[in-house]
Amino acid sequence: MQLFIDTANLDEIRTAASWGVIAGVTTNPTLIAKEGRDFQAVIHEICQLIDGPISAEVIAQDAPGMIDEGRRYAAWDPHVVVKVPMTEEGIKATKALSSEGIRTNVTLCFSANQALLAALAGATYISPFVGRVDDTGGDGMALISEIREIYDNYVMTTQILTASVRSPNHVTMAAKMGSDVATCPFKILQQMFRHPLTDRGLEQFLADWASVPVLSGRA
Ligand code: G3P
Repeated sequence: MQLFIDTANLDEIRTAASWGVIAGVTTNPTLIAKEGRDFQAVIHEICQLIDGPISAEVIAQDAPGMIDEGRRYAAWDPHVVVKVPMTEEGIKATKALSSEGIRTNVTLCFSANQALLAALAGATYISPFVGRVDDTGGDGMALISEIREIYDNYVMTTQILTASVRSPNHVTMAAKMGSDVATCPFKILQQMFRHPLTDRGLEQFLADWASVPVLSGRA
């Protein structure tokens, strides 16, 4: 499973890129608004930091408007993936953009049927929002499992991009269920590194190493 970072913050992306394990970036209008900067400029700078798919979301609500925006975004940089909402108009736009070879990420997916529609329209990615499903009393991870089963039944190539990740456990579950990608906030990625036994073990190793006599060749 690939890991993407779900942010438009350049400092976070720069740090995450330095780890060498982040394969792409997802943004949405909320994340872009938080940065208080020009959309195209932010997307352009993100494309310089990560050599992978960078999702940029359309704002139009009608298919012609989405197609127009999608074509413009795709022309900004070859890394750009056009993020389209899971609506009737969004699916029309997804079909049109994918027929032109423009990669798409269908977002705001909350059901297996929505994921089926996105795959039939030729979406490159489907973004099920697992955290928001959990927020409403549902089981976000069960949705990932359902979509995986449906896509595997028919050898559908749309990639499952687990989104709205709220905990490291969501990431583990996504990987176990065969999600193709999990996109995570910076904080969750940092939490994935940590384990108290790693910290304690390292502390012990360093303390023991300090007692090794210098003449034995310790650095
Ligand atoms: O990028 C979309 C998604 O990851 C949003 O997450 O936490 O706002 O539900 P959240």
